[in-house]
Amino acid sequence: MVDSFVHEVPAARVVFANGAIGEVGAELDRLGGRHALLIAGGPEAEYADRIAQDLGPAIAARFSDVVMHVPVEIASHATAAARDAGADAIISLGGGSSTGVAKAIALETGLPILAVPTTYAGSEMTNIWGLTEGRRKTTGRDPRVLPRTVIYDPELTVSLPLDIAVASGMNAIAHLVEGLYAPGISPVMALQAEEGIRALASALPRLAANPGDLTARGDALYGAWLAGWTLGTTGMGIHHKICHTLGGTYNLPHAPSHSAVIAYATDFNAGHAPAAMAAITRALNAGGIPCDNPAQGIWDLADRIGAPLSLQALGFELGSIDEATAIVVDAQPTNPRPVESDGVRALLIAAYEGTRPGALVSTEALSG
Ligand SMILES: NC(=O)c1ccc[n+]([C@@H]2O[C@H](COP(=O)([O-])OP(=O)(O)OC[C@H]3O[C@@H](n4cnc5c(N)ncnc54)[C@H](O)[C@@H]3O)[C@@H](O)[C@H]2O)c1
Repeated sequence: MVDSFVHEVPAARVVFANGAIGEVGAELDRLGGRHALLIAGGPEAEYADRIAQDLGPAIAARFSDVVMHVPVEIASHATAAARDAGADAIISLGGGSSTGVAKAIALETGLPILAVPTTYAGSEMTNIWGLTEGRRKTTGRDPRVLPRTVIYDPELTVSLPLDIAVASGMNAIAHLVEGLYAPGISPVMALQAEEGIRALASALPRLAANPGDLTARGDALYGAWLAGWTLGTTGMGIHHKICHTLGGTYNLPHAPSHSAVIAYATDFNAGHAPAAMAAITRALNAGGIPCDNPAQGIWDLADRIGAPLSLQALGFELGSIDEATAIVVDAQPTNPRPVESDGVRALLIAAYEGTRPGALVSTEALSG
């Protein structure tokens, strides 16, 4: 029997091809953009230069002050830059941080976004914005921030350093895992999420073994597209709330935190989401990660590709676990298993330690 569901798919036009950076001008035209603000951080400047050269006067101005989690000051500078340039569209090039700055402008101005993502964060497929003021990150959903067009060009991702690429890939896995156990996920989105895990489980080890492998980079970007789309069309659970807390309150890096937590979040929910767990297990096996336990399979994937496995290694302190637990429990994210203190604390201790799920954590950590 099919469970009840809501299927609402945000409408973005997606262009996926090696060399698709050459299509930015035509796609901007299609959107009716004549004077775009081009946003790209330092490491992506080379590709931004190419777009600026190709598009000439259609690039009205550039903005390169890209900061993760979009501090409100950066958002207001970027919005002023768009207004001063008389921009009628925004082109964002780079990871979730570039897309995030573009979304902050769109939230204020309603300008359309053409996104050219170069990591696996997935923000380009969602209507979710995020802004940070002091130690507090606020997020929300708004149709104005959903990019109208997304151009995926695997060639642009070859320069993404391996450590960033593998952590970002685990970030994408986390969107897919939490989408699978989101309430009301539609049957089509469930198939897509399973396919996304399969694609990433297959691509990431090949990419880690040979970072210059363009086919592996392309397959990973394909999985990331599915992951971003899953994030955009379903709700997220305890894992995303924990990572949001780790980034917003403890300034831990975004993708590495996802990598270090997702196996334990999966373990936490394992007994409460049987269909999702079966889909994750199938997808990991199909992608070449043998497992009969999804949490262990996810940990094995991260281990194989050298992605972060513990919060301790990211600088999180054992002494912060009680405070972080309280923040997550207070928020009461929608999640298959009830979110209560003992369980969340145990999850965070396990993620802090980073041992394979199912293994015992040290008594020192448990008594901390
Ligand atoms: N709103 C959403 O739906 C959503 C979804 C996922 C992530 N996010 C947000 O996105 C941010 C994280 O994004 P991220 O993990 O992509 O990190 P990021 O955008 O900060 O990129 C990580 C690093 O990789 C560099 N980089 C990116 N592409 C490169 C390339 N091709 N070559 C060389 N270097 C490159 C960047 O300059 C940066 O230094 C966070 O603020 C997170 O909250 C939002």
